[in-house]
Order: sequence, then structure tokens, then C-alpha cells
Amino acid sequence: MSVVLAHHWGVDVDKCLLAALLHDVAKPFPKSQQAELLENCRIVQVTDEDRSYPSIWHGMIAAQEGMDRWGVTDDDILDAVIHHSTGRKDLSPVGMVLYIADFTEPSRNWDGVEQIRADILTKPIREAAREVAQRKLVRLQEKGREAHPHTRAMADWLHLNAQKGN
Ligand SMILES: [Fe+2]
Repeated sequence: MSVVLAHHWGVDVDKCLLAALLHDVAKPFPKSQQAELLENCRIVQVTDEDRSYPSIWHGMIAAQEGMDRWGVTDDDILDAVIHHSTGRKDLSPVGMVLYIADFTEPSRNWDGVEQIRADILTKPIREAAREVAQRKLVRLQEKGREAHPHTRAMADWLHLNAQKGN
């Protein structure tokens, strides 16, 4: 999905492919192991806020593993992997491709995914990312879960961009 979207929006395909291959390598690790690895992350300053969202730990750990085990040093790739679930303000195009692909890839089957999968291909990348960010906020709200500050920052940043016509 990342490769398809990278081609579609003219984003670096090799970087998007590597980010996609790497992003979930730590997801199968037991949470206890993830908690331990999180505390050893040097690639990112882990905050107390991050610690309270176990579902996003695997991105930070995957980026650290990518650097330590496979020598990945490209900032675009590592940042995309770190933020693939939440996004962040000023996310790079490689980051946006992974963020959008992760939410809409073929194994996702939540209500409305077919519609958003078709919609994103009709839009510029930032608008597609904005649609995903807004959809994520709605889904979190429906589940009664608080959004991570990066998720909110991503949605606000893209909303402001859209208002300015960027
Ligand atoms: Fe993930």
C-alpha cells in the first residue's frame, strides 16, 4: 500500500518501502518486552504521555531496532516509523504515506474503509492525511479513548494548512 501511494503522490518509493517493512517489526513483541525496550530507546525522547499509550510503543522501538540491527539512519524513514500510528505536526511526505497506508491497507476492514481508500486517491497527500487524521480522532472518540497529543497536533496542523490553502 505504501508503494502504491508513494508512486501515486510522487514520494520517494524506496524510503516508503523501507519504512513500511520496518514499521511493525516490534508489534508482535510481548508488552513486557516492549516496555523494557521503550526505556532503552535513544532515538526518541520518550515522554510520560507516550508511556501511557502502549499501542504506540512499537513504532518507537521499531525505529530503534532499525537503527541498531539494520543500520537504518535516514531521518525520514525513522521518523515515519516512530509516528506511524499518531502522525505529528510537520510530518514528512514519507511519514504521511506510511500513516495513510497503515490506516487504509487491504487487511483493514472497519466500517467505511473502502470509501476512504477510494477518497484518498482523489486528493493531494496532505488532504488525504487530514482525512485519515480526522477519521482517527472520530474512531478514538467512539471508543471513548483519549487521543495522543501527536494525533491532535497532526489533525490541527493539517486543518490549519487546509485553511491557508496549502
Ligand atoms: Fe503499527
